[in-house]
Amino acid sequence: MRLDVVTIFPEYLEPLNVSLVGKARARGDLDVRVHDLRAWTHDRHHTVDDTPYGGGPGMVMKPEPWGEALDEVLADAGDDEQPVLVVPTPSGRPFTQEMAVELSGKPWLVFTPARYEGIDRRVIDEYGERLDVREVSIGDYVLAGGEAPVLVMVEAIARLLPGVLGNAESHRDDSFAPGAMAGLLEGPVYTKPPEWRGRGIPEVLLSGHHGRIARWRRDQALARTADHRPDLIAGCDPSALDKHDRAA
Ligand code: ADE
Repeated sequence: MRLDVVTIFPEYLEPLNVSLVGKARARGDLDVRVHDLRAWTHDRHHTVDDTPYGGGPGMVMKPEPWGEALDEVLADAGDDEQPVLVVPTPSGRPFTQEMAVELSGKPWLVFTPARYEGIDRRVIDEYGERLDVREVSIGDYVLAGGEAPVLVMVEAIARLLPGVLGNAESHRDDSFAPGAMAGLLEGPVYTKPPEWRGRGIPEVLLSGHHGRIARWRRDQALARTADHRPDLIAGCDPSALDKHDRAA
């Protein structure tokens, strides 16, 4: 998979050299290219923003540097390989696990993290005519820019790529993953030692009884979801609950 990021803070994307994403890059599973938007400015001050038409606070990112940058990045696009343009913005559609799964199936993603009040709308309209453009929010809060959301999205997407997680089953029980635990948050997990500061391991996990363990995990997931995210229980398809769930 190829990922391009156009930003005025290339150094903000340095965590993409670390851990799971860094290793996927080193292996060649991920081709990550970070570009400095200011390279496509032509004035002495490398200006990327200006005051908003209609007035109001803050500054708006000028369309020309974005247009030149995206034209150059997209120059590699062929008829059969068009990237998805991902525009992080608090006014976008919510980023979800479902969206991460969908985007992990694309060959090429281009991210355009903005600063200030955002990018001149004409840029999104222009590329929206030729590309699949997604305006995406990572949550109902406003950050100072889209770089942190890019890190969040790339990590969520990259860990789903084949061969990136050591154990392909690691995402099977993820909170929000489809499957037996669909719609539920993951419950608690334990490892060695069997006793730590006087605290033991729930007896059932030591029983070797797969049926009882699966039932216990599901009860834990249900209890945790009811406590932390009652909205997910309310939105749960009743057919996804079994008779033991209902009793719990
Ligand atoms: N830029 C600023 N806040 C954001 C958010 N919550 N999601 C995506 N991009 C953003």
